[in-house]
Order: sequence, then C-alpha cells, then structure tokens
Amino acid sequence: MMSAESPQVVSDPAVLRAALTVIRRQGKRIGLAPTMGALHEGHLSLVRACKAECGYTVVSLYVNPSQFGPSEDLAKYPRTWEADLAALAGVGADLVFAPRDAEIYPSDYATWIEVGGVAEPLEGQHRPGHFRGVATVVLKLLNLVQPDVAYFGQKDFQQALVIQRLVADLNVPVEIRVCPIIREPDGLAMSSRNRYLSPAARQRALVLWRSLERARELTARGERSAAAILAQMRAVILQTEDAQIDYVALVDPQTLLPVEALTGPTLAALAVKIENTRLIDNYLLEP
Ligand code: PAJ
Repeated sequence: MMSAESPQVVSDPAVLRAALTVIRRQGKRIGLAPTMGALHEGHLSLVRACKAECGYTVVSLYVNPSQFGPSEDLAKYPRTWEADLAALAGVGADLVFAPRDAEIYPSDYATWIEVGGVAEPLEGQHRPGHFRGVATVVLKLLNLVQPDVAYFGQKDFQQALVIQRLVADLNVPVEIRVCPIIREPDGLAMSSRNRYLSPAARQRALVLWRSLERARELTARGERSAAAILAQMRAVILQTEDAQIDYVALVDPQTLLPVEALTGPTLAALAVKIENTRLIDNYLLEP
C-alpha cells in the first residue's frame, strides 16, 4: 500500500540526532540509503529494501561537492527536490536528511578519507579524488545517522566495494547491503545523469548495455579469453557515433584487478561518454 504520509525533513544534524535517539530507544532497527537526489527507481529500490528490513528508514539527500572533479557536472547536477520528496512519501521513507554544505564542510574542514586498493583502478584512475570525496561523505553520514544497515546499489559496483573496505578498515558498526541494478525496459541502467541525454543520445546510450550483453553472450558460448571479449565489447561501442570509451574492463569482482582468462565470476565494467554525458554500467559474468 502506498503511504501518503510525508517523511520528516531534517537538515540540522542536532535535530537529526535527537529524532533518531527517540527511534533507537523504541528498539527500532535504523536503515540509511544515501543519495544525491534526482531520485529514480534505482534509488527507490534501495529505500524499499531498507523498509523491508528496518523499522525506520532514513534517506539522505545531499549533492556532495567533494566527489566532483573541477571539470565535472556539480553545478548542473539535477536537483528535483519536490519530486524527490513526493517519491519518498510514496515509498514510505520515514526521514529525509538533507544537510547544508556549511554543516558538512564548514570553512575550517580538514579531514579526508583515502581508501587504497579497490579505490585505485577504474573510476579511481579516471576520476582522481572522486572516492576520497565519496568515502569522506559516506563516513560522515554513517556517523551522523548511525544506522544499523546502509544500502548501496550495484550500479556503482566499485563504490560499494570502497564503502565495504572503509567500514571494515575503520571498524564502523554498520552492515552494508548491495542491491541489484535497476534498468529501463530497454536495458539502460537508471541514473540521475540520464536526464542530461537528448532523445538521440538516449538511444545511443544503449550501447553500454549492448556491450555488456555481448560479453554475456560470448561467455555463455564458452569464450574465456578476456582479450577476445574486450575486443568485441569495444567494437560494439565504437560502432556507435559519438560514443567515447573511458574504460572497458574485465576484472576480479573482489580486487577489481584485470583478469586474463575468465576462470570464475568476473566483473565487466565500463565508462562511456555519450555526447558530454559520462555513463557507467557493469555486469557480473558467471562463466
Ligand atoms: P547517487 O548517484 O544518487 O546514488 C545513490 C545510490 O543509489 C548509490 O548507492 C547507487 O549505487 C544507487 N543507484 C543509482 N542508480 C541505481 C540503479 N540503476 N540501480 C540500483 N541502484 C542504483 O552514489 C551516490 O549517489 C553518492 O556517491 C553517495 C553514495 C550518495 C555519496 O555522495
């Protein structure tokens, strides 16, 4: 049943703490789904997973400046506050935490979290400083909300691994759940950045999914050579006008290091620019 009741909206960390103290005293399990807003069904799937497991669902909505590079899309990142609140009321979120920049990064802010290992290849290589910003804000959100469980999407496979590393290394008392990728009916992974695409570019954006499908087909037919699969994945993308490859990779899903042969579960991951929009997607191949 759809709940028409609006979530409580909080921006002040002290108000958040007070509200959650009451909930914790009631013995409720608190879940957190961190987002940057411009919500779509991918985000809402995290909220639904949270609702199913937790007695109280917090969604954070914060466009974190520190995870955007200087030439990236921070200024034009979509902000759809009214629609986001309506969607969160629809799925029955209990509290929306939407802090202001000055509360997260006061002018004397000076502490940054650098995760090594899994944060280094792929996105780490192509977006220097990105995971430093993500890890820092996520640790702050976990400290502010102190959830029992926190929900992330497999859409950002590497991000989820980075958060798991962070939580294990710094002994953060939270369980991390990773939820499946939600796709449009034609296969395009849902993303807030899909809004940037013109109708023609939206069609061309399907090339990410087609490339992953090609990898899946080849694997199903018994191909085990990473070089052979990568060549075909690239060929699919290069056939598309105005699609520029950032990376196409076949990696170990635990270390994110490249594999030469598919001897076990292997992550196919890619980042492609369509017009000026950078899109990422991935698929877990199980040979
Ligand atoms: P954002 O891009 O808004 O995504 C918030 C969460 O939704 C992430 O865990 C992401 O993996 C998940 N998500 C996005 N699209 C999805 C899809 N199609 N299917 C399933 N899950 C999907 O990721 C961030 O924000 C930020 O880096 C954040 C973690 C909030 C830190 O600022």
